[in-house]
Amino acid sequence: MAGILERYRQFYDFGDNFPIISLEEGNTPLIPACNVGDAVMQKSGKTGLKVFLKFEGLNPTGSFKDRGMTYAVSRAVQEKHTHIICASTGNTSASAAAYGARAGLKTLIILPSGKVALGKLSQAILYGASIVEIDGNFDQALDIVRELGSTGKVCIVNSINPYRLQGQKTGAFEVCDVLGEAPDDLFIPVGNAGNITAYWMGFKEYADKGITQKRPRMNGYEAEGSAAIVFNRKIENPETLATAIRIGNPASWDGAVAARDESGGRIDSVTDDEIVAAYQFLAAREGVFCEPSSAASVAGLFKAAELGQVQDNATIVCVLTGNGLKDPDSAIKFGSPERAQLPADAGQVAEFFRL
Ligand code: F0G
Repeated sequence: MAGILERYRQFYDFGDNFPIISLEEGNTPLIPACNVGDAVMQKSGKTGLKVFLKFEGLNPTGSFKDRGMTYAVSRAVQEKHTHIICASTGNTSASAAAYGARAGLKTLIILPSGKVALGKLSQAILYGASIVEIDGNFDQALDIVRELGSTGKVCIVNSINPYRLQGQKTGAFEVCDVLGEAPDDLFIPVGNAGNITAYWMGFKEYADKGITQKRPRMNGYEAEGSAAIVFNRKIENPETLATAIRIGNPASWDGAVAARDESGGRIDSVTDDEIVAAYQFLAAREGVFCEPSSAASVAGLFKAAELGQVQDNATIVCVLTGNGLKDPDSAIKFGSPERAQLPADAGQVAEFFRL
């Protein structure tokens, strides 16, 4: 299976001899989620709902970022850059470091100190990136990246690089290809707001080309402590345990608002408790291990169900943006308390298991 740029080549204009840097990203599963669907029907009193999880955690570096990074890094190579740079809450840096390594580029990373999940940091380190942790948040890191990028010495691979969103739109293509039509509703976490912008681009493109007959409502969810778009103001000190979306001044703010308004959807917030409840539900009831920020989409769906915002017979897709293995600390903190350390003794083990 080829990566997204080769599979969807007809949607791009690469020109001749375009150097595709790929790790065979994309083609992630759209997993039916009957238990989420049942819970949503119970909460809302609606019937006939079908819920699917677009599990982006199965990309090569464990998040949706790879769809955009394959294109941004390929262009960086074509444009003869030697260095790429990004600010990140973790996943972008892991992805940039991987594609940068594959392309033979130097990858420079700026992270908010102490706020990046362990798995993400360990990836960037092993891929060989050059890493600076700042005493500040993601928004401040991105300001530094913009400044350093303006010198022309480095290529910015944050989602302000337009090729990132052009790559990420393939997530929407894949959802439509599998369902045979666009869903009625898409639920998606919102941090820097690039992904919701990219999915909307993809859904519009398929509809405009007549590949699909309809467009979904776009439902984006910010974490309550970082909900700049919901409150319509920058948040100076964004907070949430969902560190991937701990962002107070989203770069694609306008794109997210346009996606919401053009699609008749909504941008709302979910609390950390709601995020954790959805994170636990997905693992314990669906066997799907995503990272906490990803669960904001399902937390949003549960909230929408309770507010009577879902419709009978709707086909609903929740995007799970990153793999649960990225953040082992959260899994251990919020996972099953049924654990014991015992001697190697069958009787005691049986007793603990109540067998
Ligand atoms: N989910 C995960 C797991 C993420 O890593 C991110 C963003 C988002 C959702 C939000 O997507 O920014 O397009 O609205 N992570 C970025 C990073 C900011 O640096 O890895 P968005």
